[in-house]
Amino acid sequence: MASQIKRLPKNAYRISRRALRAQVGLLERRFGLETSALVGRDELGLVGEQRHYEPAGWLTLRRVLRSGEVSADDVFIDLGSGKGRVLLQAARYPFKRVIGVEISESLNEIARKNLSRSMPRLACKNIELVTADLAEYEIPDDVTVAFIYNPVRGELFSAVVDKLLASLDRRPRDLRLIYRIPLEEPRLTRTGRFRLLKSARGVRPWSRESSTRLYMVLAKPDPEPQRASPHGERDGSRA
Ligand SMILES: C[S@@+](CC[C@H](N)C(=O)[O-])C[C@H]1O[C@@H](n2cnc3c(N)ncnc32)[C@H](O)[C@@H]1O
Repeated sequence: MASQIKRLPKNAYRISRRALRAQVGLLERRFGLETSALVGRDELGLVGEQRHYEPAGWLTLRRVLRSGEVSADDVFIDLGSGKGRVLLQAARYPFKRVIGVEISESLNEIARKNLSRSMPRLACKNIELVTADLAEYEIPDDVTVAFIYNPVRGELFSAVVDKLLASLDRRPRDLRLIYRIPLEEPRLTRTGRFRLLKSARGVRPWSRESSTRLYMVLAKPDPEPQRASPHGERDGSRA
């Protein structure tokens, strides 16, 4: 009984999340979009540290990136872009270019349809969808805002981080990383090259890992590495 009571908030959250996803799905359909339905690893033929498709919330970017913080010289990339929900959000900003990298061609096909149906409403129309494995993909040296929502875990995640750092080393520039649900944050911290700028907390009060975080990527390791407590955290808001 006690354990059932303890599980109440989690169960209530799961039920309301499912209901919300269904509502969002209906709303998307009215705009000719489909980004809501989850797609499992088996269906995508993914293995090992590669993760399934689940979209970030529709307000994710808006919560950590103000429109004044993006200029016409900035280039955005979503590493593991799925059905393109975050690309659709990014293209509302005045980015010079928006890139999505996704391992599944079938998800990219859905993303292509979603983007073409939204084109009249987008500020950035220069959108590139790449079908590639992040383990092999080289990050272009003009990217200035990278987004990641756990496409891969473990060593594969570290390899992607190394590619981001290699790109910055090849061409030093202002580079930011937005990390949704930062399960692998210790792997960033270990490099000493990610400084936390902003953190927007998610709705799950029992999970400290449901946030979306914005980091500056540093040219050299930080001589004063960040401590545990992030600055700029906004409690209770959705990520
Ligand atoms: C959690 S979903 C995030 C989707 C999207 N970024 C969003 O936030 O709406 C992770 C995505 O990464 C893709 N993925 C998994 N392994 C990958 C890999 N090795 N290379 C590229 N994409 C990968 C999955 O197919 C899935 O679409």
